[in-house]
Amino acid sequence: MKIAHFSRWGFLMAAAGSAVGLGNIWKFPYITGEYGGGAFVLVYLLTVVLVGFSVMIAEMLIGYLGRRDGVGAFEDLAPRHKERWKYAGFMGLSGTLVMFYYSVVIGWIFYYITLSFGTLPATIPEAEGIYNNLMTQGVGTQIFFHTLAFMITTAVLIRGIKGGIEKFNLVLMPSLIMIIAGMLVYAMGMESFPKAVSYMFNPDWSKLTSEAFAVAVGHAFFTLSLGMGAIMIYSASLPKDSNLVRASIFVIVTDTLIALAAGLVLFTFLFQYGAEPAKGPGLVFISLPAVFHAMGLVGNVLAVLFFMALAFAGLTSAVSLVEPMVQYLIDRWDMSRTKAAIAMGTFFYLFGIVAIFSLSAETSAYLTWGGKSFFDWSDYLTSNVFLPFAGLVMAVFVGHIIEKERVASVLQKDMGWFYPIWRFSVRFIAPVALFVVMLNLMGFIEF
Ligand code: PFF
Repeated sequence: MKIAHFSRWGFLMAAAGSAVGLGNIWKFPYITGEYGGGAFVLVYLLTVVLVGFSVMIAEMLIGYLGRRDGVGAFEDLAPRHKERWKYAGFMGLSGTLVMFYYSVVIGWIFYYITLSFGTLPATIPEAEGIYNNLMTQGVGTQIFFHTLAFMITTAVLIRGIKGGIEKFNLVLMPSLIMIIAGMLVYAMGMESFPKAVSYMFNPDWSKLTSEAFAVAVGHAFFTLSLGMGAIMIYSASLPKDSNLVRASIFVIVTDTLIALAAGLVLFTFLFQYGAEPAKGPGLVFISLPAVFHAMGLVGNVLAVLFFMALAFAGLTSAVSLVEPMVQYLIDRWDMSRTKAAIAMGTFFYLFGIVAIFSLSAETSAYLTWGGKSFFDWSDYLTSNVFLPFAGLVMAVFVGHIIEKERVASVLQKDMGWFYPIWRFSVRFIAPVALFVVMLNLMGFIEF
């Protein structure tokens, strides 16, 4: 076994770094805008507390007890049918599939950092023009910045858990937290701040459609990095005698606070300058740059800081999305870390280029099926199908398959009276919730 150990703080930063990602700062505000604010946010928050927390502990536990790659961990921990359970470990592959689009979006962010140093678009239509141009005509630019994202991610992975992932997170995470906190303080001084608060926290239940509900639940899992083996592989490197409950709480609280802060900052800025909150995926790339322009020079400074924070968030999640398969190749295929990281990096890099072409004007028709581009499919399948399915498998595995005593030996002491509640949640509530949400997200049922 070639698993290295995190320091305690290193683990917390790395796991929080995985959770805090594009999901928090890019996706959360725009889906909140699309699904109408308060009620959506409330469903998301409730899911985090009621189900996300239990599944986070379950995923950590598999990694912590297994102390190796995901496939090996399932194999070792299953008391029977080991050869079948090991396939559950391949959920780690879906993280690399996420990277097909995730790395491309990190590339867009790099591009927007460069834009922020110059003159930002003065109006929303102008900003829309820049964004659409990048999507449909800017293949070369996108490939250039996607290459940069690939190179950074792979370089960190080559350096491994201690020298790469831990160090990277120890620098980037505190910087990101400081930038977002600083921007929140700045936004709090603005007139529109109370409006943003009420938009995010006053539920209008009529806006909570069945789809909105399922998306909110799905997002809660995505943003916590559950169901893709990332938290699991990091937990395999936890120091002995770690407190998984405390670590889960830390990760969840950090992730939630950053998402809420990012949402508040964005909506305050948007309301202050009369921009629309429901702009879809282009929200931070279209509405926000125009708002930054309206702020003058301060806007440029804020734009650079904001996109840097977004890039940091994306990169620290990116490494965690690929690490499960890197560790798999090291453990199972006996590859060196360098080779494994380059192999997985090249894999997502090439498909990332396909994702870029699937958005471009000339080639999108060849790379679009059923109304979804290759880019959209990699998001759709990973978030709506693989993730809830893997979450379900993990909950069932920890709740029903691993020996009770083994689970209790790690968790009972740290949980106390909460232990039976957690166990009930992992055994019954989480699997049922994930199953229903998966069917809903795939369009089989509506409620
Ligand atoms: N949690 C990350 C985000 O919010 O962007 C995305 C992510 C990372 C999902 C790692 C899953 C994962 F395993």
